[in-house]
Amino acid sequence: MLLNLFGNGFYAANRRSQETSDPSYRPVLKISTRDLGGEVEIKVRDNGTGSPPELRDKLFTPFFTTKPTGEGTGLGLSISYDIVTQQHGGTITVDSRVGEFTEFTVRLPRSAPSGAPAVNARTNSAATSGEP
Ligand SMILES: Nc1ncnc2c1ncn2[C@@H]1O[C@H](COP(=O)(O)OP(=O)(O)OP(=O)(O)O)[C@@H](O)[C@H]1O
Ligand SMILES: [Mg+2]
Repeated sequence: MLLNLFGNGFYAANRRSQETSDPSYRPVLKISTRDLGGEVEIKVRDNGTGSPPELRDKLFTPFFTTKPTGEGTGLGLSISYDIVTQQHGGTITVDSRVGEFTEFTVRLPRSAPSGAPAVNARTNSAATSGEP
């Protein structure tokens, strides 16, 4: 789940560095964690291309991708969403500004929700095994 967020961040920052005319641009991926008591918060922030507001709701939808054909399946965030919400009972949200940054915020409860499925019922693959 985190590796997918990191991969997306690297991709967006790399794309911005290819597109920008600003020679001082430096790609940065920043990970921060916070203890919220009953929850752990993980933020993954990049200073890449950003994502426009009209796409924001679609990002977690299966097969939604803006990558060229053959490069992305568009499944990364939908699988991440399932892992965080269904298996861990947590939340995942996104904030972004085009040409500035994208930031994903994951919140995971410290204790597993009761009745959480051991594996994801929809995809049932190794990628959904619930590993962080
Ligand atoms: N850090 C980010 N910055 C800008 N856009 C993002 C970022 N992360 C995700 N997106 C947008 O969300 C879309 C869906 O992401 P998702 O991880 O689900 O699929 P993907 O990365 O396109 O494909 P795959 O994960 O299979 O490589 C991306 O194509 C991109 O448009
Ligand atoms: Mg991805």
